[in-house]
Amino acid sequence: MSEQELPIGASGREAGQRSPTARAGGVGLGARLRYGVIGYSYWDPQLTRNRDRLPLARVTHIAELAPDRRQAAEGDYPAARVTESVAEVLGSDVDGSAVVTPIRTHSSLAKQAIEADKHVFIHVSWLSPSKIRGFSVVGDRQMVVYDDVAATDKIRVFDHDVDAPDHTATYGEFQLSYRYGDIVSPHIDWAEPLAVEARDFTEAIREGRSPRSDGREGLRVVRVLEARDRSLASGGAFVDIGQEEP
Ligand SMILES: NC(=O)c1ccc[n+]([C@@H]2O[C@H](COP(=O)([O-])OP(=O)(O)OC[C@H]3O[C@@H](n4cnc5c(N)ncnc54)[C@H](O)[C@@H]3O)[C@@H](O)[C@H]2O)c1
Repeated sequence: MSEQELPIGASGREAGQRSPTARAGGVGLGARLRYGVIGYSYWDPQLTRNRDRLPLARVTHIAELAPDRRQAAEGDYPAARVTESVAEVLGSDVDGSAVVTPIRTHSSLAKQAIEADKHVFIHVSWLSPSKIRGFSVVGDRQMVVYDDVAATDKIRVFDHDVDAPDHTATYGEFQLSYRYGDIVSPHIDWAEPLAVEARDFTEAIREGRSPRSDGREGLRVVRVLEARDRSLASGGAFVDIGQEEP
């Protein structure tokens, strides 16, 4: 996996607990949820657009440190309050916030949002100089290959496995035989991923539930990536990532 998008939705409230705004009718069924976006550079317009064009949401506040980017945000969202102050955005009546700033700033900005009792969406990525977005999951009976850059057949399921002989007296006798089966590419309706995650996060706020990619899911992914790094650093050694719930 050389590049990956990792949306992490978190809330200042307990997962699964109904949000006070939903309970009190602050985000009534007819009302559009209010978003504050923090950071407005290259990626931010993609995220902001996907929030603002949802029927359920609109972007009402944008915080950005750079004057030229604030000017761009004002041009793109004339009805939104554009400011350099994160505190102003988090102190406003926004229901949710989206943090789209450099990764080193994510933890402190997310903490500020949670302390302000705002739902917070964090956009994280791992960059690669070549545009490769894919991963393979190899099981003992099948393998799944996901290639996000492929125009068609983004997911392929290989029905291959390996048969090892039961007993081998010498290494020379040790042979593995591959079994080749079907390759299946299931049909998947295409949708812009950023739009799908923006909609799920927004609906989660309104319904008072955790988003599908919540903070716990993000932690699980980070654990796997850290284990991968430790394994690579130790020559491919097995690294136990444990079973405990985050
Ligand atoms: N989906 C992808 O493939 C992909 C690729 C690259 C980056 N990203 C994500 O986009 C986000 C931004 O990355 P980037 O490379 O565009 O970063 P960047 O360095 O361009 O910064 C983003 C913007 O945030 C502003 N900013 C920084 N600190 C701020 C603060 N405290 N308050 C308000 N504004 C602040 C900066 O002025 C800048 O305009 C990150 O979350 C990153 O993970 C995603």
